Amino acid sequence: MTFTRRTALLTAAIVAATAAATGCTASLPGGPKKVLVAGATGQTGKLIVSELLANGYQVRALARDTAKARQTLGDKVEIVQGDVKDPATLAAAFAGTDAVISAVGARGAKGPDRPEAIDYQGVKNLVDAAVANRSQQFVLVSSRGATQPDNPLNKIFGDVLIWKLKGEDALRASGIPYTVVRPGGLTNAAGGDKDLVFEQGDAVSGQTTITRADVARICVQALKHPEARNRTFETSARAGAPVTDWRAKFAALKPDR
Ligand SMILES: NC(=O)c1ccc[n+]([C@@H]2O[C@H](COP(=O)([O-])OP(=O)(O)OC[C@H]3O[C@@H](n4cnc5c(N)ncnc54)[C@H](OP(=O)(O)O)[C@@H]3O)[C@@H](O)[C@H]2O)c1
Repeated sequence: MTFTRRTALLTAAIVAATAAATGCTASLPGGPKKVLVAGATGQTGKLIVSELLANGYQVRALARDTAKARQTLGDKVEIVQGDVKDPATLAAAFAGTDAVISAVGARGAKGPDRPEAIDYQGVKNLVDAAVANRSQQFVLVSSRGATQPDNPLNKIFGDVLIWKLKGEDALRASGIPYTVVRPGGLTNAAGGDKDLVFEQGDAVSGQTTITRADVARICVQALKHPEARNRTFETSARAGAPVTDWRAKFAALKPDR
């Protein structure tokens, strides 16, 4: 055996052993390999990109401003220009990808990037493009309280939760295997150090929080586990041991239909 071949085999063995030890295995055989991230330049989106890369996925980032995206995301991702308000830009963004994770969110209560335009119509445009692309899976970051029209956030922020529910509904009706993740209040701590609660029914509750990094972990694990498909759930963090058995965590959720 040549030195070069022996080195290559050794490197492959080390990569496989490291992946097994850290749980950072690539996608399931036959599962999605190349993932489009919408909202990749956002606070949660950029963590989703890192988490996908750490788990061996190829990543394409949808961005309105490609220079800003390159600066934010580095050189390990493909970047494609697009705007969720403009369906004409989305077909090319989806072409050649297997799955999509969306963490897009309105940039103001009013104006062109208001909740109706982004959290509903923008998400619906993504769903329509995913259907046309025959995407294998769509993971959507929505919000706790999406089914609560009287939630005070609606008054403050352009009926955001009402529009988020309509975006979710478009996804659930699409026929694409999906996961809808509804986090509580987002924080910027590192995460990974608490138990994550998964709940269903969107009951009115006190203030709950979760880190954006933990939301990113959930989104990527949802791609890796078929048990996450066709589920909608609220999530927050509480004191306790971090999740190790993601399969069991998703399997404990009721499918939406
Ligand atoms: N903040 C909370 O406590 C909270 C709680 C529950 C759920 N959520 C939801 O969680 C998600 C992530 O929140 P975040 O605070 O991490 O988000 P964020 O930092 O506000 O990022 C929003 C992302 O959406 C993108 N976007 C907006 N309009 C777009 C358009 N027309 N076309 C393409 N991309 C567009 C932005 O791109 P640009 O960089 O180009 O603007 C950005 O990448 C959002 O859906 C949010 O509503 C938030």
